[in-house]
Amino acid sequence: MYSRRRFLQVTSSWALSPLVGHAACEDVISRFNGVSTAEQVTAGLDLTGRTALVTGVNSGIGYETMRVLALRGAHVLGTARTEEKGRRACDTVEGATTPLVLELSDFNSVVACANKVRDMGVPIDMLICNAGAIFSDLQQINGLEAHFVINYLGHYLLVNQLLDRLIAAPHGRIVIVGSRAHQSAPLDGIQFNDLSGSSWFDRQTAYGHSKLANGLHSLELSRRLLGTGVTSNVIHPGVVQTNIARDLPNWQQLAFRIYGYLFLKDLQEGAATSVYVATHQNLTGISGCYFADSNPAVPDKNMQDQAMASRLWEVSEDLLREYLV
Ligand SMILES: NC(=O)c1ccc[n+]([C@@H]2O[C@H](COP(=O)([O-])OP(=O)(O)OC[C@H]3O[C@@H](n4cnc5c(N)ncnc54)[C@H](OP(=O)(O)O)[C@@H]3O)[C@@H](O)[C@H]2O)c1
Repeated sequence: MYSRRRFLQVTSSWALSPLVGHAACEDVISRFNGVSTAEQVTAGLDLTGRTALVTGVNSGIGYETMRVLALRGAHVLGTARTEEKGRRACDTVEGATTPLVLELSDFNSVVACANKVRDMGVPIDMLICNAGAIFSDLQQINGLEAHFVINYLGHYLLVNQLLDRLIAAPHGRIVIVGSRAHQSAPLDGIQFNDLSGSSWFDRQTAYGHSKLANGLHSLELSRRLLGTGVTSNVIHPGVVQTNIARDLPNWQQLAFRIYGYLFLKDLQEGAATSVYVATHQNLTGISGCYFADSNPAVPDKNMQDQAMASRLWEVSEDLLREYLV
């Protein structure tokens, strides 16, 4: 008989099998898998006194990530694009939460959000860059392809503005929600010669390109933060029933919903890897790794390309020069 749980268990063991890559990454195998939930991976954990910042908490994986971190005692600063969305999400969660406005396509909004956090004067123990979007058509923001801006560049700016808050925490952790879809990026990786997307856009490639950028961002952060006590890792949450398909044509949304009902992770399972990597004691000091199903996984070659990661950092710095402190 068909068993959805069994299906997810089998596919999660595929993600586990080829454990190569960063020396330290392969050592951190956990007993969790693709059907573990965020509550299960944090069972018994007391996060009282810790502060987490989670982007995109009004929906999907971000909402469940906030819910479970707050349930375990953390104070969660949860971002949404409007005050109302943030307040509504925070009001439905048990524990300490504070809504913040963050519109990743607007760099002034990113800086304003970071300033609000800095004004609170608290160390940030966990920064979870979760918010993200998929668009069917080519959209550009300040001449740059929109997935690249929203999924990657806005988060680059946010992390950059909050690095001193992370360093102020005893073991600050950055978790970037990437995707296995980084494998759909162009074969030669980041399109430094055309970040507008005009010459190469299709939805899958552009989403994959932004997720490759997420992974390279984490890799470069881990290199730059060596010796500070702050770690950075990128995760694939699995394929999860959320609102991520909302901008796709109606028939694709319907197909996603039906397929999701049958095969995909639910939100509790979908938030597990973010929460595991943000909190588990086994991961203290682990940095520059890629996780799926709460275990190390093997990223595509481009996502391990240190030279590409460093170049992306420098290009991003140039693009954002007027916003960087
Ligand atoms: N679902 C999956 O199968 C899957 C697989 C791999 C990776 N991921 C990644 O998981 C993360 C969470 O996505 P999800 O699946 O939970 O989707 P979701 O339910 O659509 O949630 C996405 C969140 O990001 C926010 N967001 C979108 N555009 C934004 C912008 N311009 N500025 C600020 N926030 C913005 C959304 O706010 P609004 O509601 O206001 O738009 C929402 O809070 C994303 O990074 C996604 O790429 C998802």
